[in-house]
Amino acid sequence: MGDYRVGLEGIDTEVVDAELETTGTWPAWLGGTLVRNGPGRFTAQPGGRGQPARHWFDGLALLQRFTVRDGRVSYARRYVRSPAWRAATETGAFGFAEVGTTPPRSWPARLARFGRPPETGTNAVVNVLRLGGRHVAVTETPDAIPYDPFTLETTDVLRYDDDLPGDWCCAHPHHEQARGLLTGLTLQYGRRSSYHVYELDDDSLQRRLVASVPTEHPSYMHSFAMTARFVVLLEYPLLANTLSLLVGRSLVDSHDWRPERGTRFTVVERVTGSVVCRSVVPAFFCYHQVNAFESDGALLVDLPSVPGEQAMHQFDLDALRGPGPRTPAGELRRYRVPLDGGPVTWRLLSRTPFEFPAIAYVQRSGLPYRHVYGVGTPDTLTTSFSDRLVKVDVEDGSSRTWTAEGCWPGEPVLVDDPSSTAEDAGVVLSLVLDSVARRSFLLALDADTFTEVARAEVPDALPLGFHGQWYDDAP
Ligand SMILES: [Fe+2]
Repeated sequence: MGDYRVGLEGIDTEVVDAELETTGTWPAWLGGTLVRNGPGRFTAQPGGRGQPARHWFDGLALLQRFTVRDGRVSYARRYVRSPAWRAATETGAFGFAEVGTTPPRSWPARLARFGRPPETGTNAVVNVLRLGGRHVAVTETPDAIPYDPFTLETTDVLRYDDDLPGDWCCAHPHHEQARGLLTGLTLQYGRRSSYHVYELDDDSLQRRLVASVPTEHPSYMHSFAMTARFVVLLEYPLLANTLSLLVGRSLVDSHDWRPERGTRFTVVERVTGSVVCRSVVPAFFCYHQVNAFESDGALLVDLPSVPGEQAMHQFDLDALRGPGPRTPAGELRRYRVPLDGGPVTWRLLSRTPFEFPAIAYVQRSGLPYRHVYGVGTPDTLTTSFSDRLVKVDVEDGSSRTWTAEGCWPGEPVLVDDPSSTAEDAGVVLSLVLDSVARRSFLLALDADTFTEVARAEVPDALPLGFHGQWYDDAP
């Protein structure tokens, strides 16, 4: 029996460019680069030295690249040289307030900072995107760190060429390839807080404001849903204490779960920026929404729902490393949100517990779809760590599973087979930790049958990560 905690030990070494041993047959059509992002080490300095991180999301950002070409796979990994990485590495202590970790600062020093804009170290650990024609690593602050997709070398923090307000920024914007357009979300904390929806052309760093939605109780929203016409904000009752944030407390310590307020679906029309409806349902929380599309005067919004009480603290490293895993998997639900403001209803799409959803995004985002991939746990709403890859058919509720003894797979990334228009033609890539062998491997499953086609071995036990993207055109 393996232990996922091997994936929380961290790794200090970097790899410039290594050819990996592979088994199976990589599809001849598959050529490009998978870039993965996630925490690499959980102490300020290598070797387990310095201030420990308190939260999984605060591990220092480590980029990894898997380049597949002509059936061969090469690999690199490198820490993001962010201001956060530099401060931690040089001083042995975290220099900025992170999700759960704060600098060892006295209360007078914190109060002296009151009223000034929050400092950010841009520990870009969450996701990778393209902004202004560049590859960037991002977290939930309104800046990014450019990197070279082959060497993974980073440059200085990239800032937008505008004055759009926002203290927090969603690390999961939507991208419409056909329009060359990215749509994102910021949150500005203050006496009157506001969500700001923006658009950004692919070759630009100048965001355009689409809509501002004021709120008295700013919510933590990790992602949002979008169709061609609408943006759907899900205001969960995981609410920010803005005073607490302004004095430099961590994000985790500055949010309270207030279930009596319920979860609010706020639908914004993209063309006009107007709020179409704002409907409240019994409280739930969700990190990653799956998809949304219009149907008969309503929006159907699919998502893995989890209880909100422990949404943030469940990922405290003490909790994750403690006796017994405590990570509830999501319950895959379809919410029906009438555009006339009528009552919102939901139904269960599948009993398979679920997180890190991936769909045939370019083809189906904002449209009806059938297949969603993710990681799962053995039983609905149990408290196990994700030990399997799953494929769910949202039309009939059936699912397929991939598991292996002692293995802990990360977020699946679907790469479409360019010769087919079928929604599930292609491969699903996932970086898997084999905690028994203390190695990791990049796994490729046939997206249709969900059976293994190939794997590439990394001779290290790699940390459990967050998100990644596939780039056909990366070197
Ligand atoms: Fe995420």
